[in-house]
Amino acid sequence: MSDNTISRNKAMTKFDQHDSVWLFGYGSLIFKADFPFIERRPAHIVGWSRRFWQGSHDHRGTVQAPGRVVTLIQDEGATCAGMAYLITPEVFDHLDYREKNGYLRLSTDIIFEDHSSAEGLIYIATEENAAFLGPAPERDIARQIAKAEGPSGRNADYLLGLAVALRELGKEDAHVFEIERHLQLLNAINQDAE
Ligand code: SIN
Repeated sequence: MSDNTISRNKAMTKFDQHDSVWLFGYGSLIFKADFPFIERRPAHIVGWSRRFWQGSHDHRGTVQAPGRVVTLIQDEGATCAGMAYLITPEVFDHLDYREKNGYLRLSTDIIFEDHSSAEGLIYIATEENAAFLGPAPERDIARQIAKAEGPSGRNADYLLGLAVALRELGKEDAHVFEIERHLQLLNAINQDAE
């Protein structure tokens, strides 16, 4: 289901008067930075884990065959690695549109590799949004991803792009890498059957 969050995000004016704001990306915002930024730095946030629990009916799937993309779930003591971008508040228009299917802006502490930190923004899709799909075994998630495609391309390319980007950052993510492993197995089975 679709859950357009643009107007709710516009009402979040916390950083509107700032000259610049740190945005933390943990999904496609790591590997697809289609917006202007002043600076970018590898970073992490604490107390959150990345999960392929959000449905994508508008980018990496369709209403009939939704894909799965990542969101964050609260997870005490966990860290989630990603990329932080220093942006100007004008970029919110583009980001709110891009993340409109269920994601809300939330302010959080972002920790950089030199251990300094800054308050910034993440886009998070909580279980209250209509596009939320929730947990499933990694193998089932891989099967769903293998079949899904939307206006932004194949859902598999989102998963593989994220896995490559995390390796480039030198970061582990057992959930993401396990889904990638299942997808590669599925692809190998399909090739054998051809
Ligand atoms: C993010 O990348 O930070 C949000 C989720 C996504 O757009 O994939």
